Amino acid sequence: MKVLITGGAGFIGHNVAIYLKNLGYRVIAFDSLKRSTILAKDRLMENGIALLKGDIMVAKDLDVALKSVDVVVHAAAYISVEESIRRPVIYFRNNVAGTASLAEACLRNGVNELIYLSSAAVYGDPKSLPIGEEHPTSPISPYGLSKLMGEEVLKFYAKNGLKYTILRIFNAYGVGQSPSYAGVITRFIESALKGRSLVIYGDGQQTRDFVHVQDVAEAIRLSIESSTKNETFNIGSGKPTKIYELAKTVIDLLNKDISIRHAMPRAGDIRQSYADISKAQSILGFCPSFSLKQGLINLLENLPKKRP
Ligand SMILES: NC(=O)c1ccc[n+]([C@@H]2O[C@H](COP(=O)([O-])OP(=O)(O)OC[C@H]3O[C@@H](n4cnc5c(N)ncnc54)[C@H](O)[C@@H]3O)[C@@H](O)[C@H]2O)c1
Repeated sequence: MKVLITGGAGFIGHNVAIYLKNLGYRVIAFDSLKRSTILAKDRLMENGIALLKGDIMVAKDLDVALKSVDVVVHAAAYISVEESIRRPVIYFRNNVAGTASLAEACLRNGVNELIYLSSAAVYGDPKSLPIGEEHPTSPISPYGLSKLMGEEVLKFYAKNGLKYTILRIFNAYGVGQSPSYAGVITRFIESALKGRSLVIYGDGQQTRDFVHVQDVAEAIRLSIESSTKNETFNIGSGKPTKIYELAKTVIDLLNKDISIRHAMPRAGDIRQSYADISKAQSILGFCPSFSLKQGLINLLENLPKKRP
């Protein structure tokens, strides 16, 4: 089976590419390379994965890339919440119009299956926990809104025959996350390795659901293999982690004498978040294999010598 991964030279994209290649899939990474990392490109090359330079907004780039592809994993997007607040239009253009451009190109080229990497950001401030797929969607950033609009775009193209699977990913972490847009785990590890104190915005009692990128990759594999299509699934660990506990665990694992510093809470930061993953468990057979501690150990053991 031939899989095209848009955003294939990004954090999640290249990890998924390597994961699927190791399982025997034929994989092509497709990326504009505008926000990719050198590390991701190096890892793709080391693993013998072809990387096609192209933009999901450009029809002819897609027409070349989609030849004899069976399924597309759509990971290409702009992903910074903070940047999306400053520059919403580029988020709507790239993440929403880009998804439409891709969906249309898929149908034009006879590729009728697409796995869409959506985000927990579509839910906004949780009204109830854990967050199930039926939880109301009310994104609080242009990024979250762009991901939700991307979902709706795919539901529109489903009427023309496109089969989609929407995976609403919570906080992914693992090797190769770009420090510029990275989540808190990469930020903490970067600081700790430089001997700097870890900065927590607010009291650190806020929770997030951290999911290892290999578990995300497995959820994608399960989605490709599943006979259930046109469904939406939460992909997380299903467990809340307090940011203060995360900071302590990073410090313990690195065995370093590093302090924790509290800074002013960031405007718009969600207080509590974790996923109800029972739908993905029962329909896809998704079962996250990494505890946070195991995932952090795996990440620390595989830290690149060359920084992204
Ligand atoms: N990282 C997370 O925790 C997380 C959580 C939820 C959802 N997601 C979703 O997963 C996907 C991948 O996220 P990531 O963390 O790997 O991001 P990333 O920024 O590391 O990778 C995205 C890649 O997409 C490429 N790209 C962007 N626009 C493109 C375009 N128009 N054409 C071709 N390539 C383009 C970039 O160059 C980059 O390499 C995104 O869709 C994101 O919304 C990520």
